[in-house]
Amino acid sequence: MINPLVIKLGGNILEKEIALNGLFKTLSNYLKIYNRAIIIVHGGGCIIDNLMNKLSLTTTKKNGLRITNTDQIDIVIAALAGIANKKLLSWAKKFKINSIGLCLSDGNIVDAIQINKELGHVGCVIPGKQLLLRILFDNGYMPIISSIGIDDHGCLLNVNADEAATAIALTVEGNLILLSDVNGILDKKGNLIKVLNTNEAEKLIANNTISNGMAIKTRAALKAARNLNYPVYIASWQQTDQLIDLFNGSLVGTKVFA
Ligand SMILES: Nc1ncnc2c1ncn2[C@@H]1O[C@H](COP(=O)(O)OP(=O)(O)OP(=O)(O)O)[C@@H](O)[C@H]1O
Ligand SMILES: [Mg+2]
Repeated sequence: MINPLVIKLGGNILEKEIALNGLFKTLSNYLKIYNRAIIIVHGGGCIIDNLMNKLSLTTTKKNGLRITNTDQIDIVIAALAGIANKKLLSWAKKFKINSIGLCLSDGNIVDAIQINKELGHVGCVIPGKQLLLRILFDNGYMPIISSIGIDDHGCLLNVNADEAATAIALTVEGNLILLSDVNGILDKKGNLIKVLNTNEAEKLIANNTISNGMAIKTRAALKAARNLNYPVYIASWQQTDQLIDLFNGSLVGTKVFA
């Protein structure tokens, strides 16, 4: 079997029916044609924000990471492991894809560690064990994994979903695609950067051309590219007609290599 394909879904795709329809149709067709394991990893910032608004709670971010105090971690879990994960499972079901919903700590897919007390329930991750995912692949399941982790003390943690996807790609030695709500990494003028390496990326982060969530995403992509020795693609879930080319390794969006 070819190496697994890890696809991270971000931005507000969870609220976009047309994009979800296009994505799951493509996934369903791809899985019928190719004997390749696919893993979906997802964030869901918009779902957390909606739930927080309904509960009149405010969000604070530091360097693109959501500060998650003890009062808020339950809401983040409900939004990511609950609403977002189950909505994606429902789309998979609709397209007859055999799926299973997981979080990062099921089967110790990755190991999560609390970053620091100031950020609260926010974790970073390192690659873990591939056994559970292998069992699922061998039995034809497509795992859909939320970015909720649990550390060795049993503390539930909110993990940036790009960093989670990188750790999972390293766990399974898979190709990584990060799908967001922008066409890729954009330059100061808003034009797409087609190819980016570590040196250029760090310059663009230093002068704030790449910021917030995209800075974390770019560094997560570089880490995966460096450790796996494959390029990583950052592209948009909006370009439904190009997804199949992207899955097959064509240059769509930004190609990031170490
Ligand atoms: N140079 C840049 N090119 C493109 N987007 C950028 C750049 N700098 C900052 N951004 C911002 O980064 C955002 C993408 O990162 P963000 O973390 O918001 O989304 P995501 O990772 O796809 O979703 P989630 O965090 O919910 O998983 C873009 O929508 C854009 O506002
Ligand atoms: Mg993000």
